[in-house]
Amino acid sequence: MKVIIAKDYEDMSTKAFELVKRVVTENPEAVLGLATGSTPLGLYAKMAEDHRENGTSYRRVRTVNLDEYEGLDITSDQSYVYFMRKNLFDHLDIDLENTNIENGRAENAEAECARYNALLEVMRQDIQILGIGSNGHIAFNEPGTPFEAETHVVELTESTIKDNSRLFARVEDVPRRAYTMGPKNIMNARKILILANGANKAKAVCGLVKGKVTEALPASVLQRHPDCTLVCDEAAASLL
Ligand code: F6R
Repeated sequence: MKVIIAKDYEDMSTKAFELVKRVVTENPEAVLGLATGSTPLGLYAKMAEDHRENGTSYRRVRTVNLDEYEGLDITSDQSYVYFMRKNLFDHLDIDLENTNIENGRAENAEAECARYNALLEVMRQDIQILGIGSNGHIAFNEPGTPFEAETHVVELTESTIKDNSRLFARVEDVPRRAYTMGPKNIMNARKILILANGANKAKAVCGLVKGKVTEALPASVLQRHPDCTLVCDEAAASLL
């Protein structure tokens, strides 16, 4: 794994942006694997700014998102589909038809997972952007998830519900279940870019880079990926 330690959040976002821009410039039809959460917001702002100022086009770019809460209405401002529009897609020239995410309101969860896995087979990510949870989760793959798992529905752990509750009015409002790509779908990406900032991620980052590869720390599977880059700030790198 290549490790790049950035000064701070701004610097981490700039370095991440440079890597993503290279992928889009080299292949205007690239498939971007995208994450939500607070970590990639700076990167997304830089992509929007670069599109505005330099005209970098996303018209033919395609996207697949990692995960989506189950049960939230598509118009809910807590859904990840809404998050992606607000924080990225609405600021690019991307065709929304080319953007993909699990349908959190699907009637048949099993069929929805199968649909998403089939889509990922034909839309292999040229780059997969990831954040990391304080317990080492990637996407919504919580500790204990088999590395062989593909898209599935998960019960969120108390730790993740607590982490995510800052984005909801009350902790009780955080959905208890979510759709997520599995580690296998993530590992299938041609390139992986994992971002981390803040001292609360330091322990997980240490496990990601230097720990044993174990399903107890889902992110550790990335040590087996041939082209994975971690960009983190100094606080998140403090235990390395
Ligand atoms: C988001 C996702 C999550 C987050 C992780 C970190 O799509 O899959 O795994 O990347 O929970 O969240 P933040 O960035 O909010 O610290």
